Amino acid sequence: MQPSEPYYRDDLALVHHRGFAFHADACAPDILSLLEPIRRRNGLVLEIGCGSGLLTARLVETGHRVVASDASPSMLHLARTVATGAEEIRTLTLPDDPVPAADAIVGVGHALNYLPDVGSVERALLALARALRPGGVLAIDLCDLDWGRTRQGESNRGWVGEDWALVTRFSTPSPDRYVREMTTFVPNEDGSWRRDDERHDNVLVDTARLPGLLATAGLECEVRLSFGSEAFPPGLRALIGQRPA
Ligand SMILES: C[S@@+](CC[C@H](N)C(=O)[O-])C[C@H]1O[C@@H](n2cnc3c(N)ncnc32)[C@H](O)[C@@H]1O
Repeated sequence: MQPSEPYYRDDLALVHHRGFAFHADACAPDILSLLEPIRRRNGLVLEIGCGSGLLTARLVETGHRVVASDASPSMLHLARTVATGAEEIRTLTLPDDPVPAADAIVGVGHALNYLPDVGSVERALLALARALRPGGVLAIDLCDLDWGRTRQGESNRGWVGEDWALVTRFSTPSPDRYVREMTTFVPNEDGSWRRDDERHDNVLVDTARLPGLLATAGLECEVRLSFGSEAFPPGLRALIGQRPA
């Protein structure tokens, strides 16, 4: 299902930033290792689905030139304060916005699974592949069909922090769909709390098919269980590749 407005409005963007930094934090060291040759030659890194800029900040701190992008204005607003020093922080809504040429394309937090269907995911991947310069590196994560298989009948869950709370109802209406109905609470300036609700429809993909797809655009890719040494949750995969120099 295509949402009528971008996913991650103000309150969910804030909750993600305050309570769910752990995935970007865990992925950062391995992504930085994969990108070390790009940093050495001062290449340009394009980050897709940058969210609030958690990985972006790590890339910038390490000396990378970064263009960070996302579809959510609320996430981009946060990223502009979190990842100062990026060359650009801009809207890029996959699969159809033009993708700028880059020496590396990275993304964590499965942005492509937010697209409406597998065809859109494939279109987005081919657009990213075409934007990757010779010698360039691709490193993104995606939810495989296994993501849904391992979460059949998942119980509702709640999380709470000092200044945020999230309650999520999960469902897997079909083998290639993962749905979260999320209710957020964040404090107002006067100390009262406000509620918002978002439904996220994720499409799950057979990641084993993706190296073959990307080979048609000249990329050599593989699907791994993580970007390196960090442990991914069940069903999440790392798609890692390069365009030969
Ligand atoms: C789970 S969040 C991950 C954010 C960030 N990378 C992190 O790890 O904290 C997924 C991100 O994908 C973005 N996204 C969703 N649909 C997108 C689209 N069509 N194009 C680009 N980004 C999209 C969302 O706005 C959100 O910031």
